[in-house]
Amino acid sequence: MTQTAVQSWSLGLTLHLVLAVALHQGFATVAPPTVAPTTAAPHKDPSSPERGNYVVSNNGTVCLLASMGLQLNISFSSLSQNKTVQEVVNIQPNATNSSGSCKSDIATLRLTTDAQKTNLTFSFTLNTTSNKYHLSSVSLSAAWPDMKDPVSVRNNSLDYLRGSLGFSYMCREKQTLDVVQTVSINIVQVQVQPFGLTGSQFGAAEECQLDEDDMLIPIIVGAALAGLVVIVLLAYLIGRKRSHAGYQTI
Ligand SMILES: *[C@@H]1O[C@H](CO)[C@@H](O)[C@H](O)[C@H]1NC(C)=O
Ligand SMILES: *[C@@H]1O[C@H](CO)[C@@H](O)[C@H](O)[C@H]1NC(C)=O
Ligand SMILES: *[C@@H]1O[C@H](CO)[C@@H](O)[C@H](O)[C@H]1NC(C)=O
Ligand SMILES: *[C@@H]1O[C@H](CO)[C@@H](O)[C@H](O)[C@H]1NC(C)=O
Ligand SMILES: *[C@@H]1O[C@H](CO)[C@@H](O)[C@H](O)[C@H]1NC(C)=O
Ligand SMILES: *[C@@H]1O[C@H](CO)[C@@H](O)[C@H](O)[C@H]1NC(C)=O
Ligand SMILES: *[C@@H]1O[C@H](CO)[C@@H](O)[C@H](O)[C@H]1NC(C)=O
Ligand SMILES: *[C@@H]1O[C@H](CO)[C@@H](O)[C@H](O)[C@H]1NC(C)=O
Repeated sequence: MTQTAVQSWSLGLTLHLVLAVALHQGFATVAPPTVAPTTAAPHKDPSSPERGNYVVSNNGTVCLLASMGLQLNISFSSLSQNKTVQEVVNIQPNATNSSGSCKSDIATLRLTTDAQKTNLTFSFTLNTTSNKYHLSSVSLSAAWPDMKDPVSVRNNSLDYLRGSLGFSYMCREKQTLDVVQTVSINIVQVQVQPFGLTGSQFGAAEECQLDEDDMLIPIIVGAALAGLVVIVLLAYLIGRKRSHAGYQTI
């Protein structure tokens, strides 16, 4: 009698231990991706950029919609420090104007910040055969007070933010768009649709691979935990049934 009771008790304890360990490991696995963005910034880099909503209209009709946070990462020759410096600067949505143009297979979003010190242009190309679009070109010109010479760069052979005609492209995770060696753009919480808008709302969203990968971890951990709970519960119930007589007499 006592032996089965002890067995049952130790099985119950094992259940708690296994669950505790599993939960602990589960959270330990899930935690890093959510913590990473805040620890990624070295020295005095600004915080995550604020999300801005940008619209391009063609003859009164909205033809491009973009909602995103933008951060420029530029290296330039500094006047005050007399050397090349690396600066990370957020685009402030409330100090930024958007304009642009839309043609059948190319759509352009042009952002101009305070007093035209920074002009940033994104061009999207639509492949009318495959009905897929992508960000194909980025140009940046900047004339900041501390720049020895204005920066002006362009890359017309990019392939970022790929989506399908009629859908918007969406990505919550931060992405880095490498433009040229001295200029990259960090883009966060992006939703963009450069073609095939009906009305002034985004079409259905196509989520980026990064987000799907990110979702996969909690799903796997959750499924594994659920499976484990079922197995342990079954084992516990079977153990209880076996020792049922033992409990009755206590
Ligand atoms: C702009 O829209 C007006 C009215 O909707 C139309 O008459 C005109 O042809 C359009 N212009 C162009 C360039 O599409
Ligand atoms: C800016 O770019 C430099 C050089 O490519 C890189 O080392 C640094 O991590 C970038 N900083 C941010 C905040 O993206
Ligand atoms: C800037 O640095 C260069 C060499 O690194 C030096 O020759 C020049 O005198 C410096 N100019 C100023 C204004 O400090
Ligand atoms: C823009 O927003 C920032 C923070 O949200 C605020 O500090 C700043 O005063 C705003 N600037 C303007 C011109 O509204
Ligand atoms: C945005 O456009 C408005 C009207 O054209 C202008 O008054 C304002 O200064 C512009 N802002 C920026 C940041 O260029
Ligand atoms: C458009 O897509 C088709 C099919 O994927 C591909 O064969 C073609 O090279 C693409 N055209 C351009 C200009 O990229
Ligand atoms: C941005 O564009 C405006 C209008 O085309 C121009 O006047 C200004 O000089 C440009 N700024 C830079 C930094 O190139
Ligand atoms: C433009 O971007 C492509 C793809 O990222 C890269 O291979 C190429 O070196 C870039 N061009 C320049 C001039 O940096």
